[in-house]
Amino acid sequence: MCGIVGYIGNNAVAEELFAGLKNLEYRGYDSAGIALNDNAKIEVFKASGKLANLDAVLQKNHVEKYVSHMGIGHIRWATHGAPTIENAHPHLSNDGNLVLVHNGIIENYKELRQELQNKGVVFHSQTDTEAAVHLFAEEYKKCGSLEEAVRNSLPKLKGAFAFVIMHHNEPDKIIAVRKNAPLIIGSGQDENFVASDIPALLGKVSQIIHLDDDEMAIVQKDKVVVKDIHGHILNKKLEKVDMQADVISKCGYAHFMLKEICEQPAILRKVWQKHIQNQQIVTDDAKIAVNWDKVKKVVIVACGTSLHAAMVAKKVWEEWLHLPVQIEAASEFIYQTNLLDENSLVIGVSQSGETADTITALKLAQKFQAQIMVLTNRIDSSIVRYASSVVPLDAGVEISVAATKSYMAQLAAFYWFGLLMAQKMNKISASDMAEKLQNLMQMPEKIEEILSHQEYIESVAQKLAHHSAVVYMARGFNLPTAYEAALKLKEISYINANAYPAGELKHGPIALLDENMPVLALFEQGQTAAKLLSNCEEAKARHAPVVGIGGRKASDIFDDYIETPEVEACFSPLLMCVPIQLLAYFAAKTLNREIDQPRNLAKSVTVE
Ligand code: M6R
Repeated sequence: MCGIVGYIGNNAVAEELFAGLKNLEYRGYDSAGIALNDNAKIEVFKASGKLANLDAVLQKNHVEKYVSHMGIGHIRWATHGAPTIENAHPHLSNDGNLVLVHNGIIENYKELRQELQNKGVVFHSQTDTEAAVHLFAEEYKKCGSLEEAVRNSLPKLKGAFAFVIMHHNEPDKIIAVRKNAPLIIGSGQDENFVASDIPALLGKVSQIIHLDDDEMAIVQKDKVVVKDIHGHILNKKLEKVDMQADVISKCGYAHFMLKEICEQPAILRKVWQKHIQNQQIVTDDAKIAVNWDKVKKVVIVACGTSLHAAMVAKKVWEEWLHLPVQIEAASEFIYQTNLLDENSLVIGVSQSGETADTITALKLAQKFQAQIMVLTNRIDSSIVRYASSVVPLDAGVEISVAATKSYMAQLAAFYWFGLLMAQKMNKISASDMAEKLQNLMQMPEKIEEILSHQEYIESVAQKLAHHSAVVYMARGFNLPTAYEAALKLKEISYINANAYPAGELKHGPIALLDENMPVLALFEQGQTAAKLLSNCEEAKARHAPVVGIGGRKASDIFDDYIETPEVEACFSPLLMCVPIQLLAYFAAKTLNREIDQPRNLAKSVTVE
């Protein structure tokens, strides 16, 4: 979502901040700004829209002329107030001395705003953040110390925040503080950084400190002191940055999305190598602290693409384990009459590990003493704090806002974890296990075969791109794939796509069908194929263009057919996600969309 960078050191500050923000661009944002603690005063530069606009502002103002050894920067994804210059961060106090950037949401901002306005404080934006600036500034007037002013104000703030703050009278330090929003400190030689996420610091530092909730860092050029909320010094560990700079390079691909789609066979190979050995599923048991004897019910909570991966898990696990699996959109889970207890295993799935809805759902599960596990691509993220078991997805950093390789890695994790559960619960024979593992091991090669048909898939996508809406339909294991296909197409091409269980079409959506509404059917082996074909006939009879995706083509009614290698139905979601990702990608490319950073979307959604 929003991104934060802070720098204190001898380099050109504006350049350092800009470079850091550039590396966070992938998170999705709609305005940007930086503030420099210049000798004369705090200078703030802001722009709505993309970083190129901020760059133009910096150039116009000859930013290089300012003498500053410290500054803070921000990219904002609008929540409270439109993406205007006034609402962009950094926000400055009315005396022009205190400036801050903020990620998260101040839930009680209206009350704070009213209180401050009653005291005569003037507000200039619609943001929740501005209440915090004035709160800190009022407190500073009383105590004359930035550190104390922030510490004294924190109890008054409700919600989630990562703040990075400077005061003109204290030109030797940046204060960073967090609660329920990520923040890290990058430690360098005679320079230090603050950032909301590691990519901002790639190539800059090799060691970082992860701040935890209710911790404050006092960041100076040559030292960093971390304190708890009461001001006691904490002994925080420096950790090695475990990320390569090339993760933020397109490596010759036109877009990160295409690069990430093409990385999928390699990711699968890596995951299988780690978890499949000697015809068994192996894993680091220290990280998976599930009491298997107690598991009577499994609930998976997630959002968006992660939710679709969870839907696949439900279908596969119920078939393999004969254990009821409940799937909930995390944002709705919190309103349920929860029937959880210590015999429930609640699994949170999140690529980013920062999704507020999923984290809130897990906090609720904690109250019911459920066992909690998370599947995440970021083992350094906030979500791991709420789980006793953590499964890393090992997809590598995903830059494109549209999730692709992380979906594949989530599916992979659900498949091997399903087999692990079957092993632990004695629900699988050795021969069945061997056969399933064999199927999994063959997937990377089969995906490579699909990737080799990109040209044909692009030609199908070019036709779809001429329509303003499409329908996806499926039966069985690939119904979640259909949901994912519709989501992917919507989010990057802005074509309205809906997905239905194929049998549901005749109960209403069929009214939509005519020659302008393509229907895409996802085929898998087994009992569902014949009925799905009949549903295609029904669509064809209404003049809808019909596109089939799946194993060998079984009829001539299709206008186009994307053939995928034949696999047993329960494994086909691992293959079928690839053509639907490519269709979305090429449709968006045809329409010249901003594929890696679609409008209105953010990579990690840290608000509920
Ligand atoms: O980081 P998470 O997996 O928790 O994110 C969940 C959704 O926000 C995410 O999958 C979103 O739907 C993506 N834009 C899908 O491409």
